[in-house]
Amino acid sequence: MTTTSYQSRNQVRFIDLFCGIGGFRHAITHVARSYGLEPTCVFSSDIDKACQEAYSSNFGEIPHGDITKIKEDDVPAHDVLLAGFPCQPFSIIGQMRGFEDTRGTLFFDIARILSEKKPAAFVLENVKLLAGHDKGQTLLKIMQTLADLGYKAEYKVFNALDFGLPQKRERIWIVGMRADKPIHWPEGALPMKPLSAVLEKNVPSKFYASEHIRNKRLSRMKPTKETTIWHENKAGNISALPYSCALRAGASYNYLLVNGERRLTPREMLRLQGFPDSHKIVSSDSQTRKQAGNSLPVNVAKAVIASLFESLFGVPTVDENLACDKQLSLLEPKSIYNERTETKKRRKIQASVSTK
Ligand SMILES: C[S@@+](CC[C@H](N)C(=O)[O-])C[C@H]1O[C@@H](n2cnc3c(N)ncnc32)[C@H](O)[C@@H]1O
Repeated sequence: MTTTSYQSRNQVRFIDLFCGIGGFRHAITHVARSYGLEPTCVFSSDIDKACQEAYSSNFGEIPHGDITKIKEDDVPAHDVLLAGFPCQPFSIIGQMRGFEDTRGTLFFDIARILSEKKPAAFVLENVKLLAGHDKGQTLLKIMQTLADLGYKAEYKVFNALDFGLPQKRERIWIVGMRADKPIHWPEGALPMKPLSAVLEKNVPSKFYASEHIRNKRLSRMKPTKETTIWHENKAGNISALPYSCALRAGASYNYLLVNGERRLTPREMLRLQGFPDSHKIVSSDSQTRKQAGNSLPVNVAKAVIASLFESLFGVPTVDENLACDKQLSLLEPKSIYNERTETKKRRKIQASVSTK
């Protein structure tokens, strides 16, 4: 994607692999438009039927299915490859030597498309665990493979809490470019939205936990004055925090409870991941819960893609003096940040116990 080609086409073509419900697509659409480029998705793929339906209701196209069954030369030419790939390969990838050796893993499917189509850049997202798996060997193999394919690639771990979302979600982001230019990264210094900007009012009774569960929580945690999300860890300990712990697709039903009494609604879960309210919810509550837990924090994806565009094209014309995190906050509706509290301060707030 040379400056001339994107300027002459006025378009950025991308592919959305393991697309889920389209977290990456929301992000690149937002960023490309801030650069005056038309975001054009030329290929998407997800094996899950409910995700395909949700994606098609929101973006007007049904993603292709199993990527392992799609030949790389059937994937159209594109400028940017996006992939929030599942963590399935970790157990086996560590011992591998090179690209060919990654066959049978879903990372191999990303690598073979990069090798064949040679897009100008890519952004990959995965769980933080990837960084430490097999004493770093797994990530090393991935980075070596990307370098062997002709990419300058770097990675960073970011927490969604540092990008305006009240969700503690740490993920690894791997960015690569064919051009030998410095890779820019966002600062991650946006203030966290308060929970009140995310939570719905008049939540239907079906979201309330049973009296038994509520009493169980109350036996281990006192009600708090401010709104909190109660998180139950594996050991059964409860913490009440002014933000949510990471949404998880397979977590128990009552793993996160608002004020210790009710589950999050599908819309609240999508908001915690930074999805706009214009994103249509078409799946059942339990499917949407799984989709939101599997998805990515759109705000972080926006900031990482904005930094990638900055690396490729320089800063957009919005305001040349602003870092991209700040530009993104300017593009958000102002009201969201009315109750600004610095994220670091909020994180330290020990929820005070109610005297009522
Ligand atoms: C971690 S989620 C990514 C979600 C996505 N980033 C989003 O914003 O919703 C991984 C996705 O990979 C899909 N997947 C798993 N195996 C696949 C395969 N062989 N081919 C295509 N998609 C697959 C899953 O259905 C799941 O939606």
